[in-house]
Amino acid sequence: MAIWPFKKDEADAGHVPASSPAVTPAPTVSSSTGAPLTSDARDTEGWRAPLIEGDPRHIAIIMDGNGRWAKRRHIPRKLGHREGVEAVRRTVEAALDRGIPYITLYAFSSENWSRPEDEVEGLMGLLRRFMDEDLVELEARGVRGRFIGARDKLDRDILERLVEAERRTAHLEGITVTIALNYGGRQEIARAAQRLAREVAAGRMKPEQINEDMFGFWLETSDLPDPDLLIRTSGEQRLSNFLPWQTAYTEFYFPDVVWPDYNEGHLLEAIEIYRNRERRYGGREDCAPYKIGTPGAVENSGTGE
Ligand code: FPP
Repeated sequence: MAIWPFKKDEADAGHVPASSPAVTPAPTVSSSTGAPLTSDARDTEGWRAPLIEGDPRHIAIIMDGNGRWAKRRHIPRKLGHREGVEAVRRTVEAALDRGIPYITLYAFSSENWSRPEDEVEGLMGLLRRFMDEDLVELEARGVRGRFIGARDKLDRDILERLVEAERRTAHLEGITVTIALNYGGRQEIARAAQRLAREVAAGRMKPEQINEDMFGFWLETSDLPDPDLLIRTSGEQRLSNFLPWQTAYTEFYFPDVVWPDYNEGHLLEAIEIYRNRERRYGGREDCAPYKIGTPGAVENSGTGE
């Protein structure tokens, strides 16, 4: 988190800041099992299992393949998206059961507006239903909902729903589910650059003071850890403008399964694959100490990525 002389929302009134996560002192052992907990794991007494050491804290998912799922069944695309919502529920519940504290889902990109109007309307309808029904049910399990993406193009009722869902669930600690809606990573970076330029122009900071932390502070994900694992379903191997800044050191995994078929087994398989990866953050295992989950812990010699 950046050290900043003033609050983001005061400095940039037009920006809707991400709400801050509740600060809860982390216990060192699980109150239910007595097992040691990693530093950020909070045993929330049945809401979410404690984070297992070595598991990803934050999983980002590009939910791809809804159209192909429907095409294989000779049924309309919209049914693929509808099944996709079921997969969202299954995956969030599986992540909760496993003790993953953060999951971020790419629901609608800033480029998705170019799809046919009826498909866009169908996706917006599913989002409305998700916020009215699924999220309300998931709240009972401690799901905190939040949204990233440009809010300007969204219908007023969708905007109201998402602001209300964020407000209603802000205190929940089971799992933070971030939905990327009308999201584009490059646009997010450009907005952050504009905000920093404004700070410099207003004389509140010098250009030399701009560093990674300060830049990250102006991104919409400033209250989230960077994703440890990014999954894109359906075998496609692209980032498609999803969290390009935040995934600089993320592990990627591209399973062949199409999103509507995604289930707990697939998630656990992805976690297992992640657990067997070696994360070096640009360092070298044989010449410098490094620690899983601590980007920047090693002085980067400029090689070895
Ligand atoms: C990509 O499949 C998927 C999308 C563009 C939308 C993802 C949306 C959902 C899963 C439902 C809504 C989400 C929430 C959180 C309520 P595609 O249509 O590009 O599939 P294809 O590549 O097989 O054609």
